[in-house]
Amino acid sequence: MRLFLTGATGFVGRNLLLEALRDNRYAEVVAAVRDGEKLLRQLAAEGIPRPSSLRITSWRESPPRDIDHAVHCAGLLFARDRRDYFRVNVEETRRLLTRLPANARTLVLSSQSAAGPTPIGRPAHSAADPDIPLTWYGESKLAMERSLASERPGAFVWRPPMILGPRDRATLPLFQMAAQRLRIKPGFRPKTYSWIAVGDLVRAIFRALDEPVWTPTASPLPVSAPGTITDTELIRTAADVLGRAGRTVPLPHLLMRGVCALVDAAPRLRAAAPSLTRDRSREIYPDRWVLDAAEFQARFAPGPFATLRDTLAETRVWYARAGLLRAA
Ligand SMILES: NC(=O)c1ccc[n+]([C@@H]2O[C@H](COP(=O)([O-])OP(=O)(O)OC[C@H]3O[C@@H](n4cnc5c(N)ncnc54)[C@H](OP(=O)(O)O)[C@@H]3O)[C@@H](O)[C@H]2O)c1
Repeated sequence: MRLFLTGATGFVGRNLLLEALRDNRYAEVVAAVRDGEKLLRQLAAEGIPRPSSLRITSWRESPPRDIDHAVHCAGLLFARDRRDYFRVNVEETRRLLTRLPANARTLVLSSQSAAGPTPIGRPAHSAADPDIPLTWYGESKLAMERSLASERPGAFVWRPPMILGPRDRATLPLFQMAAQRLRIKPGFRPKTYSWIAVGDLVRAIFRALDEPVWTPTASPLPVSAPGTITDTELIRTAADVLGRAGRTVPLPHLLMRGVCALVDAAPRLRAAAPSLTRDRSREIYPDRWVLDAAEFQARFAPGPFATLRDTLAETRVWYARAGLLRAA
């Protein structure tokens, strides 16, 4: 069996690659990346010298014809220009995926951002609700889903919510804030989220690829662990695993918008907190980002699921090992 993987230098793709190499489930893993040296450096840092079952190819090359499974994890999550999101998440994704062999089982990561927040007054966003993305990122993911539905109908498109776990650079600002005595959260009301640990997501992806019959859902599949978390709980748990005490105070949305405008205007701040650009920060304000993932859980994720605490503890250990956070 041969796996074709994109995004192997990123958070989800790297976890998936490590899992695929760890249990030798594939005779060969073909990782299509922009920078092969970066991937080799990352693997060396994990204590894995160049594995013999790994073939590194260029993201621009045509995918090999003899692949059984393909997982598309590459994507642009943070940019300043709407066109960049559409170039990577729609055009380049389409170009790549339409060149995959027709019989390769193909799983594509979209995002909850394509659906938008939970409609007001509802417990969860379900397949019957309209998709109303708030950001250019979400719009590009929705456009990608629609283009694949007509051009690669056999692809299985998944919509994960917030993904947490080791190798995620995007949660570093959360840990840096949680380390302070005074932390801020946007708005006075609690914000509630669906989420999933990256290990649980990766296991579910392999489970889906290994199903006896490949039966993608007609519309993108909402993905999540059971239950929800709040923003305050997320900050408090990050602080707990760091062993730090402190207080979280709400920042009114109006002030938050000012902070985001400031971040957007300053390249160094933007690089440090890419989720605070004015466009991306539109996802900060809704109170509820919960989706109905009953079908995902029934088919691909019977559990047990990682707890938030264990997931953040594992993330902290990885940050310390990578030299991004001081060890406790
Ligand atoms: N992380 C989350 O919480 C979350 C939630 C929902 C959905 N998702 C989706 O899950 C997927 C994986 O996310 P992630 O968190 O792993 O993202 P990530 O850590 O930012 O990794 C993104 C990957 O995409 C590659 N990439 C970026 N721009 C590219 C371009 N122009 N051409 C080719 N490759 C490019 C990156 O390669 P380089 O290393 O070369 O930059 C990297 O390997 C994405 O599709 C994302 O939208 C993520």
